[in-house]
Amino acid sequence: MTKTTPHFCTIAPDGLRFPLPGGGSILDAALAEGIAVPFSCKRGECGSCRAQVLGGTSERIAPPSEAAYQVADDELLMCQCRATSDLSLRFAHWRMPARPAARYSAKIMALDAVAPGVTKLVVELQSAQPFQCAPGQHAQLLMDNGERRSFSIANLPAETGGANRLEFHIRRIPGGAFTDHKLAELRPGELLEIDGPYGACTWQAPSEPVAHLVLLATGTGFAGISAILKTALTSGAFQTVTLYWGCATAADCYASDWLDEMEDAYAGFRWAAVPSTQRVQNEALAAAHDWAQTTVYACGNPAMVREARELLKAAGLPKDNFFSEAFLPATQAHQDKAPYIVRHPWEKVGAAFSLEGILDARRRSMDALPQIAALMVPGMTTGEASRSPTSICAAWARPTTGTRPTCASARTRSAPRANRWTASGNCAPTTCSPSTWAPCGTATKGTTATPS
Ligand SMILES: Cc1cc2nc3c(=O)[nH]c(=O)nc-3n(C[C@H](O)[C@H](O)[C@H](O)COP(=O)(O)OP(=O)(O)OC[C@H]3O[C@@H](n4cnc5c(N)ncnc54)[C@H](O)[C@@H]3O)c2cc1C
Ligand code: FES
Repeated sequence: MTKTTPHFCTIAPDGLRFPLPGGGSILDAALAEGIAVPFSCKRGECGSCRAQVLGGTSERIAPPSEAAYQVADDELLMCQCRATSDLSLRFAHWRMPARPAARYSAKIMALDAVAPGVTKLVVELQSAQPFQCAPGQHAQLLMDNGERRSFSIANLPAETGGANRLEFHIRRIPGGAFTDHKLAELRPGELLEIDGPYGACTWQAPSEPVAHLVLLATGTGFAGISAILKTALTSGAFQTVTLYWGCATAADCYASDWLDEMEDAYAGFRWAAVPSTQRVQNEALAAAHDWAQTTVYACGNPAMVREARELLKAAGLPKDNFFSEAFLPATQAHQDKAPYIVRHPWEKVGAAFSLEGILDARRRSMDALPQIAALMVPGMTTGEASRSPTSICAAWARPTTGTRPTCASARTRSAPRANRWTASGNCAPTTCSPSTWAPCGTATKGTTATPS
């Protein structure tokens, strides 16, 4: 009987090497060896696991679906392919994380309704070690049955100092196990399990001068974009930064006040709200950016991400300048219900099984004890929690008067904010002005957006 020699995969430029057992995907082989590689959906749709093939051959395990990510001729999707020879791969869009993903216990600090059907969740990791992630990454929130749901980290945790706080913007999916059911049961002070960070749609400081940055977001896709936006503005790496944010109504544009402030603070930054009758990618295209000199991040609706990639590449955007995070629904294929330690290949062989990892886990358990004890004190009510200073911040409130504004003049810096909306589709002539919006801190209950 002949013995088949396994193929090997080498990752450039670090030279990491791992075996590729026959049959399985290249991604599974990498994860089984504890090699940190980029991935997200594991079903060929997001493109996070795409790799440039520097040498060797592979084949698809199954035919591509209609929603499949289109790779370039010299690329493959690691989650969809198996090797037919030794392989040499490179990730042009991704860099090895400083610290691998890990599991954390997180205390819920705030749960605020910021727009119809959107909740801002703030948690504090119960870890002595500072949480490190790249702007644009996401974390997985665990449910009691072991299922996981991905949500983008909307803030820069390092900015919260030793507090280790993470902020998530969560859209309610009717009937959704997490966003509809579990989220409604959560209360400030309770503990959640979080795993991360993950994701390849991360801030990349341009190594060569790239003049412009265009950010595309739909709905809570803004969460995936906001940390990148903050980093881009403070870095000064781009001459211009433009955000197109698809929101069904003004009330859905829950960060508009903050964005207006950023526009005042940074001369090169503009943002535009795009109503649901329009497409953010079309609005960006119509603005005639110099695509050859532009980097694009797109986050949110998978169809938007797919279409934006094709449209903008055809308009001259270099393919390596497009980064994206498609908010794909979690599926059973992506969910394993068995406990984390048993099923996660990184955990069996990765950092968590080193002496340092075990001691860190023990330390985190000890750190969490006071929080658990605090929860045992009777008398904590949801009312107390909702009296947190940010809970009825009118920065997120609906305008109380006026109709939604119209026109595309948001691209002109001097345009009044009333003209923020980029398209006239479902807008009446302008009668609304920012002055009709309640300033932060003066909202009354009636004007504060509540989740539907
Ligand atoms: C990398 C990544 C980052 C993400 N970041 C965010 C984020 O910051 N904010 C956010 O609100 N969402 C985000 N999502 C989407 C979110 O993880 C999913 O919507 C998740 O499935 C919701 O979980 P659930 O338990 O409420 O619904 P599930 O129980 O998973 O689904 C219930 C039903 O709704 C459908 N469904 C679920 N999600 C969607 C969707 N997005 N679009 C259409 N149908 C859907 C499912 O197919 C199923 O039929 C992200 C997804 C990914 C992959
Ligand atoms: S992880 Fe392979 S395409 Fe999404």
